[in-house]
Amino acid sequence: MKAITYNKYGSPSVLQMVDIEKPTPKPNEVLVKIYATSVTSGDARLRSSNFPIIAWLIVRLVYGLFKPKKEILGHEFSGIVEAVGKEVTKYKVGDEVVGTPTMLPSGSYTEYLCIPENRKKGVLALKPKTLSFNEAAVLPVGGMTALFLLQKAKLDKGQNVLIYGASGSVGSHAIQIAKAQGAAVTTVCSNSNFSMVKSLGADATMDYSIMDYSSLDQKFDIVFDAVGKTSKSKAIKILKKEGKFVSTQALTNPGQEHLNKLCELADKGKLKPFIDKTFSLSDIVNAHEYVDTGRKRGNVAIEVAN
Ligand SMILES: NC(=O)c1ccc[n+]([C@@H]2O[C@H](COP(=O)([O-])OP(=O)(O)OC[C@H]3O[C@@H](n4cnc5c(N)ncnc54)[C@H](OP(=O)(O)O)[C@@H]3O)[C@@H](O)[C@H]2O)c1
Repeated sequence: MKAITYNKYGSPSVLQMVDIEKPTPKPNEVLVKIYATSVTSGDARLRSSNFPIIAWLIVRLVYGLFKPKKEILGHEFSGIVEAVGKEVTKYKVGDEVVGTPTMLPSGSYTEYLCIPENRKKGVLALKPKTLSFNEAAVLPVGGMTALFLLQKAKLDKGQNVLIYGASGSVGSHAIQIAKAQGAAVTTVCSNSNFSMVKSLGADATMDYSIMDYSSLDQKFDIVFDAVGKTSKSKAIKILKKEGKFVSTQALTNPGQEHLNKLCELADKGKLKPFIDKTFSLSDIVNAHEYVDTGRKRGNVAIEVAN
């Protein structure tokens, strides 16, 4: 089977398509034929090892000091169960699924993946019927991060939420989750992305290159920094007394319940991941070059099978 591997950190050209052996599921695992995966901003950063100095050292100790320990990148996928181990009870052959390969030996830039049906790290669920394979594949990482942080901020009906960097993956999921919860959403992004964020439900928009959001007269219950490019000291100027600031710069620890909730929202028609561009697996270098620009809108999907 085909897979994309990298055995050194660097530019997108370190990614190479190779032939490797198709895996066989253990008794507690399902074998998934991958239909789609994604290029997240995290994939691009791991590949290039582009982190601030202290984070760089920690990431290198975890992911490989001199070269990547895990040669196959990719943090989310959708696909169809092709085989199940004899202890598997929740899934059957033919089920359409979505999940993350967190802590598995292989990432999702591959045609097949074996996944334990239950595990502490990493998630797996039936794919929402409302979503295509491409849409489902880009749901877990940005969606679970947005949901985890909005729950941490105690998102509630009727609140005013400001999302800074609303046009990225986390931001575009956050808009829809906050609207589904009954919040009023103000977004901060480039003028060129106003129509995109409005299509996802934003009530108000502000261009960060023209106006400083912290000079607004309005007060908010939550300021959500979805791109890690603002700060609590700035946000505090527009927060209500009990208001909360959350940021993607914080460590997050979403789990199965977060993916289940996202699938529920998608099934109700309240959440549809925004796809900016779609590439084929063989075009992964171009996909990484695009994500490296830092300008992607929503998500970049990678079609593996169709
Ligand atoms: N903590 C976690 O678990 C976790 C999980 C996922 C992601 N993250 C982190 O969260 C951050 C966002 O990830 P992502 O994948 O959602 O990002 P992304 O999709 O790569 O973000 C790209 C978007 O950010 C916008 N942007 C860039 N600079 C901006 C600025 N100065 N102000 C406002 N918007 C700006 C761009 O719009 P313009 O072109 O209009 O500027 C673009 O649409 C990353 O740092 C990522 O590492 C953390």
